[in-house]
Amino acid sequence: MEVVLLPTPEDCGRVVADALEGALTGARDRGAPVVLGLATGSSPLLAYRELIRRHTEDGTSYDDVTAVLLDEYVGLPAGHPESYREVIRRELTDALGIDPARVHGPDGAGPDPLAAALDYEALLEATGPVAVQLLGIGTNGHIGFNEPGSSLASRTRVKTLTEQTRADNARFFGDDAEAVPRHVLTQGLGTILRAGHLVLVATGEHKAAPVAAAVEGPLTASVPGSVLQLHPHVTVVVDEAAGSRLQLADHHRYVLEHKLAAQGW
Ligand code: GLP
Repeated sequence: MEVVLLPTPEDCGRVVADALEGALTGARDRGAPVVLGLATGSSPLLAYRELIRRHTEDGTSYDDVTAVLLDEYVGLPAGHPESYREVIRRELTDALGIDPARVHGPDGAGPDPLAAALDYEALLEATGPVAVQLLGIGTNGHIGFNEPGSSLASRTRVKTLTEQTRADNARFFGDDAEAVPRHVLTQGLGTILRAGHLVLVATGEHKAAPVAAAVEGPLTASVPGSVLQLHPHVTVVVDEAAGSRLQLADHHRYVLEHKLAAQGW
């Protein structure tokens, strides 16, 4: 696992954009599916703005890219502004020129979310492997919507949100935690581990504890982000605030300073 500690959230956005572009280029070069795994929430937004800037200024092409989402709320009607399909279209994929038909997420709007979970897992099997999966982390250590207690081998399924996560996400629903759906569909931890490269981004002091627990704590279902320790290619990108509880912070800075050009992300 590589831990990249950077001064500002903007620096994190640039490095995440580099890592995502590098993974897509690598997939193209190998003749592998060019599948980009996307996350929602606030953490990825600066990286998304950087990708859009590069696409607009340099013409970086996404013509061959398929995008897949990590998760979705259950019960929001299709087209609801806070459904993750809508959020990702608004924040990223439209601006990159990715055809909505090539942007996939679990279907939380249909009558049968249990079947939708199986369908999404099958779609990921057929479309993947995901070249690179971007992740944020919840204040309770969740990734995707895999709340504490999630099986480390889980697949896409319905989950029930903790009250903490509903409160954290209330800001997207007019500060009303009761308006945040109680149920979600999420790629499982085992599903996420199938991606070729995992890139987790976190910024701000409120992420310092979950980042330290995921990166340096024991591997445990109680901290779903700790499952990253099982993956052979992980890049954790944090600003100084989110990395402030890492005991090995000095070592991570030293490694970054002495990184070989050939190592890439
Ligand atoms: C949300 C999402 C996650 C996200 C996390 C952190 O509930 N389901 O994919 O990574 O919680 O969100 P934020 O980046 O807004 O802090």
